[in-house]
Amino acid sequence: MKTVFTALAGLALLLGISMAVAGPEQDRVKLIEQFKAAFPDLATEDFVHGALAFDPDSMAQYDSIMQFPPFAGELEMAEGLWLTPFANGKTYADCLPDGGRMIAGNYPLFDPLKSRVVTLESLLNDCRVANGEAPYEYGDPATMGRLTAHVRGLSNGMRMNIKVDSEAALRAYEDGKNTFFRRAGQLNFSCANCHIDHVGNRLRSEILSPVIGQATHWPVFIGGDRLVTLQKRFERCHRDVRHVPDQAGGTRYDNLEYFLSYLSNGLPLRAAVFRK
Ligand code: HEC
Repeated sequence: MKTVFTALAGLALLLGISMAVAGPEQDRVKLIEQFKAAFPDLATEDFVHGALAFDPDSMAQYDSIMQFPPFAGELEMAEGLWLTPFANGKTYADCLPDGGRMIAGNYPLFDPLKSRVVTLESLLNDCRVANGEAPYEYGDPATMGRLTAHVRGLSNGMRMNIKVDSEAALRAYEDGKNTFFRRAGQLNFSCANCHIDHVGNRLRSEILSPVIGQATHWPVFIGGDRLVTLQKRFERCHRDVRHVPDQAGGTRYDNLEYFLSYLSNGLPLRAAVFRK
């Protein structure tokens, strides 16, 4: 593996191209082709709407709800969190790259110095801690959830741009991929069983969304008012197959988010959105 990787890196250097690892890109392209073949009426960009894209009535409901979102009040509170200075007078904008604008599509990224995946949530918590504040609990709707709704909103329209550009990054991606394809829980389902194999089918009352596009729009407001973060959604899907969920913000879910986000590369980010 190591030698193959080094050879690839050398070749990329030689050709003057930026280093993109073959594996993840092949995964992404293959899945897009698979979904295109299965759903010729849908454009790949439609996948950002998840399950809604498979049902015109739901899509129409989404469009009208998004014009006057019932969670507008939540977004105002989110902006309040963003603007409120830390005790030392500094703000998030002071501590994030580019003042926090048009950056969310770069996350999660693999940080070679920390040797781990850095999600937008961990970036924000690092910012809090560096400024003498206590970190927020991952997935807490009233604090971290709201804050990310505002911060991701500052990147609306940005194309997802996740990079897997080192051997260590590839290991994190592969770890996330394993979690996605491994059967788990008493029901013995993998994420892939539902979000690749059964996309467009109904499970009870719900249509199953494709993995492509799933990482573009977090947090969501389920039913228009209940804020749910991406990793909380992982927890719920794990619980639904009677698997003990991992901790939001832990390595397993961070790597899973890294994998999932890579697969949405090129798709436009939009936060926060309505879900049924
Ligand atoms: C038994 C089927 C099932 C399994 C297994 C499953 N999910 Fe889900 N998942 C659902 C259903 C149902 C929904 C709600 C409808 C939808 O959006 O697909 C959902 C929604 C989601 C969403 C939100 C999509 C959106 O746009 O709102 C994400 C992300 C997600 N699942 C990821 C995962 C991951 C990661 C795993 C593995 C840890 C997983 N799911 C396992 C059934 C499943």
